[in-house]
Parts: sequence; C-alpha cells; structure tokens
Amino acid sequence: MASNIQALLIATVATVMWFIYNPSPKQDVDLRGTFDYVIIGAGSAGCVLAARLSEDENVTVLLIEAGGDETENPDFHIPVKTFGQIKTDVDWEYYTVSQNDSSLGLRDRKSFWPRGRVLGGTSILHAMQHTRGHKKDFDEWEASGAEGWSYQDVMPYFLKSEDIQVGNLKNSKYHSTGGPLAVSDGRISAMADYYIMAGKELGLPLTDYNGETQLGISPAQINTRKGKRGSTSQEFLRPAMNRKNLHVSTHTVAVKLVFENKKAVGVEVIRNGRKHSVKAGKEIILSSGAIGSPQLLMLSGIGPKSHLEELKIPVIADLPVGKNLQDHIGIILKTRINISASMTLDKVDTIWTKLQYYLFGTGYFSSTGLEVTSFVATGEEEKKMNYPDIQFNFFSGYMNKYSAGLLNINEKTAQEYIPNGPYEEGMNIVGYVLRPKSRGTLTLMSRDPFDYPLIDPKYLTHNDDIKTLIRGIRVIQDFLNTKTLRSIGASQKDLKLAFCSQYDFGTDSYWECVIRHLAVTVYHPSCTCKMGSQRDPQTVVDPRLRVKGIQGLRVVDASIMPKLVSGNTNAPTIMIAEKAADMILEKDTVKHFKGQTW
Ligand SMILES: Cc1cc2nc3c(=O)[nH]c(=O)nc-3n(C[C@H](O)[C@H](O)[C@H](O)COP(=O)(O)OP(=O)(O)OC[C@H]3O[C@@H](n4cnc5c(N)ncnc54)[C@H](O)[C@@H]3O)c2cc1C
Ligand SMILES: *[C@@H]1O[C@H](CO)[C@@H](O)[C@H](O)[C@H]1NC(C)=O
Ligand SMILES: *[C@@H]1O[C@H](CO)[C@@H](O)[C@H](O)[C@H]1NC(C)=O
Ligand SMILES: *[C@@H]1O[C@H](CO)[C@@H](O)[C@H](O)[C@H]1NC(C)=O
Repeated sequence: MASNIQALLIATVATVMWFIYNPSPKQDVDLRGTFDYVIIGAGSAGCVLAARLSEDENVTVLLIEAGGDETENPDFHIPVKTFGQIKTDVDWEYYTVSQNDSSLGLRDRKSFWPRGRVLGGTSILHAMQHTRGHKKDFDEWEASGAEGWSYQDVMPYFLKSEDIQVGNLKNSKYHSTGGPLAVSDGRISAMADYYIMAGKELGLPLTDYNGETQLGISPAQINTRKGKRGSTSQEFLRPAMNRKNLHVSTHTVAVKLVFENKKAVGVEVIRNGRKHSVKAGKEIILSSGAIGSPQLLMLSGIGPKSHLEELKIPVIADLPVGKNLQDHIGIILKTRINISASMTLDKVDTIWTKLQYYLFGTGYFSSTGLEVTSFVATGEEEKKMNYPDIQFNFFSGYMNKYSAGLLNINEKTAQEYIPNGPYEEGMNIVGYVLRPKSRGTLTLMSRDPFDYPLIDPKYLTHNDDIKTLIRGIRVIQDFLNTKTLRSIGASQKDLKLAFCSQYDFGTDSYWECVIRHLAVTVYHPSCTCKMGSQRDPQTVVDPRLRVKGIQGLRVVDASIMPKLVSGNTNAPTIMIAEKAADMILEKDTVKHFKGQTW
C-alpha cells in the first residue's frame, strides 16, 4: 500500500512536469491585421505545416482550428484510451449516407466516421499505425501527372519527419532519427509473438513494411514517444508554440474564403459566436482534411459548377471538388483463445499498468492493442508484382460490447457478432483492401457552413473490392488454421454468422454476404481534392498543391492524394505537409538526403 502511494506521488509529479513543458495556445489571438500565411485546420497536416512555416522568423503564420486544446482531456495522450475519445467533444462524428451495396449490418446502413475536431485533428484519435505505403503508389502518382511526387521524391520528406526508436531499424536507410515524429515498436503482449510465428508458418517473411519490402509480416510501427501518443500537435506544434510569429486560434471555424478577382485574400471565421475577417498577405492554406477542405472550397464557390448552381453559390472556379472520394474498407474477424496472452480489462486497468505508463512509458497503457501488421499479395497480378493488395492488422484482445457503437453495427447484427460480455482473451484481425476501386462523392447538403456535407463513399460498388476482401478472409482463415494459433485455442466458430446462413459456410457467396453486412471503414477517407496535372480535368490542385485557376490558395492534407496509398494515411499526410512547406517557402530542406536511392 505505502509503495503504491509513493509511486502514485512520483507519477503525479512526472505528469505535472510534463504539462509544464507543454505550452498551450494563448487565448483569444487578435484576428485583426494581416498574416502572411493563414492555415485552416490544425490536424495531421496543419500542425506540421504551421511548425515548418514558422521556422522562418520573417513570416507570420496564423493557424485556425475549429476545435479546442487537446490537453483539456487529461487522457488525451494515453494510447489505450484512444477509442474513448471518439464520440466526445473532440470528434466531428460524421455519418455517411445510407449505403446500398455495403453496410447492411449497420444502423440505417450508415458508416460512422470519427474525425478529430481539436488541436492535432484526427491524429488525436487515430490508432497511430505508422505506414508509408508502397513505392509503386507514389511512382503511380507521378505517372498520373503529380510531377515531383515519385517515391524517390517523397522519401526525403518521410525521413525528415522521422525519429525512429526501434533499435534494429536505426541504421536502415529507410529510417532516420532526429525528426519530430517518433516511431516505436508496437509489440506489447505475448500475442505479438504468436502472430509472427503464425505468419512464418504461412511462409510470410519477417520484414520492415516501411523498408525495402512491404510484403511480409512485421511488428507494428506506431507513433508513440516513450509510450505517449505522438499526435502532430505534440510532436510538431507544441515545440513551436512559443514562437512570436506563430499564432494559434482555437474554437475558430472558417466559414468562407474571400477572393479578390481570382486571388484568395482572406477568410471569414466564427469564434465564440462572433464573425471575424482574417486577411492573408501571401497565401491561404486549407488543411481541413478530406471532408472539411472540399466542404469549405464548395461553400466558397470552388467546385462542380452544376452542384454550386443548384445551391445558388456563385461559381469562382469550376473544379471537380468532392469527386474521387476513396476510403479503405475492411473486415474484422475474431476468435477467443484459451490462454492468458492478450489484453483484457482486468490486466490492463491496474495500478501497476498505470505506474508503468507514467513512470517508464511502457506497458498496456502505451498500446492501442495493435501489435503486428502484414501486407499480402493475393491477386494473380499483384503476386507477380510483389505488390500487396491487402493489409492485415493484428490486435491483441477480443471485441467487446463497446465495439458496436464505434462501428455503428445495428442491434440485430450486434447480437450475433459482438459479444455482450467483458473483455475476454482473444484476438481481432482486420483485413482491408489497399487499393479499392469503388469511388464516392462528397457534396454540400446546403449553403450553411454548419450543416455537415453529404458523404457517399459508395463502398463495394466495384465488384473487385468484394473479390479482394474474399481472398483476404481466406488468408485470415489460414492464419486461424496455423498450428501456432490453433494451439492457443483459435477457431473459426465466430465466423459462422446466422444472418448469412442461407449460404453454405465458406463459399464465395457466404463471404460476400458477410462482407456486404460487416465490412467497415478503416477510417482513411482521402482524395477529394485530387492533385495532378494542371491540364487534367479530374484534378483540383496542381503538383504544387495550388488550387487551379486561383492565386494564393493551396490545399495541404489527405484530400490531395490522387489515389489512396497502400497503407494507413497519417504518415503520408505528414509527408504531404512537410513537402508543401518547402514548396511554399521555396526552400530545399532535404538536400542532405538526396543522392541516396530507395
Ligand atoms: C479512428 C481512426 C483511426 C485511425 N488510425 C490510423 C492509423 O492507425 N494510422 C494512420 O496512419 N492513420 C489512421 N487514421 C487516419 C488518419 O488519422 C488521417 O488520415 C489523418 O489524420 C488525416 O489528416 P488530415 O490533416 O488530412 O485531417 P485531420 O487530421 O482530420 O485535420 C483536419 C483539421 O481541420 C479542422 N477543421 C475542419 N474544418 C474546419 C473549419 N471549417 N475551420 C477550422 N478548422 C477546421 C478539424 O477540426 C481538424 O482539426 C485513423 C483515423 C481514425 C478516425
Ligand atoms: C530574416 O531576415 C533577416 C533580415 O533580412 C535575414 O538576415 C535572415 O536571414 C532572415 N531569416 C530567415 C530564416 O530567412
Ligand atoms: C439506394 O437505392 C435507392 C433505391 O433504389 C435509391 O433511391 C438511392 O439513391 C440509393 N442510394 C445510394 C447512396 O446510391
Ligand atoms: C487450447 O486449445 C487447443 C486446441 O483445442 C488445445 O490443444 C490446447 O490444449 C488448449 N490449451 C489450454 C491451455 O486449454
């Protein structure tokens, strides 16, 4: 008992010290006057951009964020509490429109899309998996017209951000140290070893998926620093917060861009119910994410002409904003196990795990449960090219009753699919299509900036996405069937679902039924302000991220991806912001990485 109290005291002091070195934004930044650069949105991209632009002491930067300060929630940095922030004040809580080809097991056939509305944006509530994507993804971006965005071009910017914490990767030319963004080893429980052994049994090489070969199985690489969440607000923005030339205005919602002729000169914002007009001397940069950025562009008259005219919004530029919406969709399969190896509530929530976290930055509190990742090529073409088409994320722990709300699963489906009990020993395996072919749209519901836009991902409208997911499920079955996982009690029992029992278990039709009911977003919406050649009618921004036909306006966030990367989207979004900062300031800060080939 006495030692518990002592340890708690030490933990408290450590926490207080940490907060002292974690400066918060000044309240009520003066919004009058002119700022050289106005950045709208302090998310994964916006925080990076604000930090990099304000390194130049001769420019002034204003960063506007609709949400508040993430440190107001005392748990914001605790990885194990990640999903507890969803559906709170810091979440926009979007829902898609009802889907017809997917989401049949979800409430109203709507997919739930959490998005951060706070300093750090979605990097505050994401699962922190750090993946770059495949070399080919970027080479294809370049080939499609995004000049200067090949793998060779983007690697220096990935490396510039990175501060690799994993010992055996420190000397790899695919990693670097000294950047702001920590990348750590995600392994935490005995499950990690079982997963990796099972992968080896299936002939998957042990690899570094951010290294030379993506294909194989690897310990997950996650953005934690000494066990704490490495959001972009923590890793990039806070260290820059005290600069005189950087101004951060929270609880400030941008509602409209202001143009003079075809030049963006300012932005109308609402803070505490009051309207302000902010002026930009050099540029406005939209970093409001794949939903917020297209929404604000359309509200301001940049978008598809016919759509804007329907809503009586004067057209400034006719561009395909909101088209090309892409998202990763996946299936979560699970099994109980019969040994004590995974993360369960009674193991996670103890005084010892708390101490371990606060004192050493280790233990269950420093994990989201994501421990191992595998990239597998399952299609014939993909196999020939060694180009994975499915990513598998292996979590330690069994699904529990809280998952139903998070995934928006309807009651009938939940009864069968989601256990109603406490956290039991088990595993969750998520498999998702890396390059989906379905394309969705984002349109305005109305001219009111506070109305949410209509999000229609049109999941599974392309049949190849179903075929790929079926192959993915078969790989998960192979995993469950390995000697390694069977020996700890893995079984396929949970895969037999009554709502698809009209089909024979294991047939393509059976799996298609399961997929159409249960495939869910893995939260990577992107591509709604497509980058590419100036001449391409499908692009919104040019390769320097300038909105076509408009001066003084760029988009810098996940929305500019021409096509989804083969992996999670946070690290690529950070890379986009790093590269954009150099383009905006017309600098080359990565010379020292050049001359290398990857
Ligand atoms: C639950 C979940 C888990 C995820 N897991 C992972 C993972 O493990 N690995 C990974 O790589 N990716 C993951 N992602 C995806 C990743 O987090 C996003 O792709 C990434 O954060 C997108 O960055 P962004 O800068 O484009 O947008 P955001 O980070 O969403 O930033 C946009 C910012 O703009 C603000 N904003 C919007 N509109 C306005 C306005 N009008 N005025 C002022 N401010 C505005 C928002 O409040 C927000 O702060 C996950 C996402 C979710 C939701
Ligand atoms: C800022 O301007 C001063 C004076 O012109 C110059 O000496 C300095 O190098 C500039 N700083 C940067 C970072 O460009
Ligand atoms: C779904 O189908 C209905 C009826 O055919 C149709 O009215 C609706 O527009 C469709 N929804 C989508 C998102 O395609
Ligand atoms: C777990 O289940 C497997 C397969 O049924 C069995 O071989 C093993 O002995 C079980 N282990 C324990 C600890 O019950």
